[in-house]
Amino acid sequence: MANYGAGLDSGSLVLTTSTSEGYSYVFRLLCNSEDEVMVPKPSYPLFDFLADLQDVKLVPYPLIYDHGWQIDFPTLEQALTPNSRAIVLVHPNNPTGSFISPEERARLNQLCRERNLSLIVDEVFLDYAYDGSQHETFAANDQVLTFTLSGLSKISGLPQMKLAWIAVSGPQEEATEAMQRLEIIADTYLSVSAPVQLAAKTMLDQRLKLQPQLMHRMQTNLSELDLQLAKQKSCTRLALQGGWYAVLRVPVTRSDEDLAIELLTQKSVLVHPGHFYDFPTDGFLVLSLITPEPTFHEGISQLLMVI
Ligand SMILES: Cc1ncc(COP(=O)(O)O)c(C=O)c1O
Repeated sequence: MANYGAGLDSGSLVLTTSTSEGYSYVFRLLCNSEDEVMVPKPSYPLFDFLADLQDVKLVPYPLIYDHGWQIDFPTLEQALTPNSRAIVLVHPNNPTGSFISPEERARLNQLCRERNLSLIVDEVFLDYAYDGSQHETFAANDQVLTFTLSGLSKISGLPQMKLAWIAVSGPQEEATEAMQRLEIIADTYLSVSAPVQLAAKTMLDQRLKLQPQLMHRMQTNLSELDLQLAKQKSCTRLALQGGWYAVLRVPVTRSDEDLAIELLTQKSVLVHPGHFYDFPTDGFLVLSLITPEPTFHEGISQLLMVI
């Protein structure tokens, strides 16, 4: 986070074994049973399970696509109730690859202040921006109580090393109190593995070698995808700014599920149907851009032939 100019001291950080565990801690901290947390749609599929385990009710708010993705603020505001406790942001979002814009950030801060809500911001893909620019982290957001989650899983490509963190920021009094309560939750589960903590610096430094290679692979795959898409008319790619995925708009001649199953069983091509991520209709496939280049190239050719 120091890379992003957010110089946090260790007193504002709680270590967890994964971002997923971080979500559980924050849900537990902010919510009583049946309290509500707003989550973007489409987005990361694990939210439902994480919330269910903590008896938290998720209320989706839509992201709308118009030459890029934006938060549908009127619908978000309408969906808030006296039980709403927090808004989840994924920055950039999985799988839409959209960052929270500075205008959206200002509006979210204002909304949270007015409605006494916290922000829970998932920044696992923050380092992966296609224009090479640095997008502002929420880890130093001092406007409202903010829990920023990230970890080694995507930063260094080491999901199995099980090290992640929650950075707490906000108006000082609120952040200090939240941190004290969060420490009790974290202490209850005892500390994350000591060997992993000791190796953390080495594993974090590994990102400096990994990320340029991964960005290069994803840029190459994206160019190949665009090249193949330019030769046909039935499929298009949605605009994206970052992350590890591309979303294809495909003709709805059958359900996305059936199409994904046909691609897998008949062509050995693995894609995700849009409904995994709560796309509102059929007609969306999600592709992983971190696939090795020759496999990706072949996979796209097969996919376009089937479509
Ligand atoms: C948006 C998002 N957050 C969190 C995670 C999981 O991170 P972790 O391995 O730290 O639980 C993923 C994994 O794909 C993800 O896409």
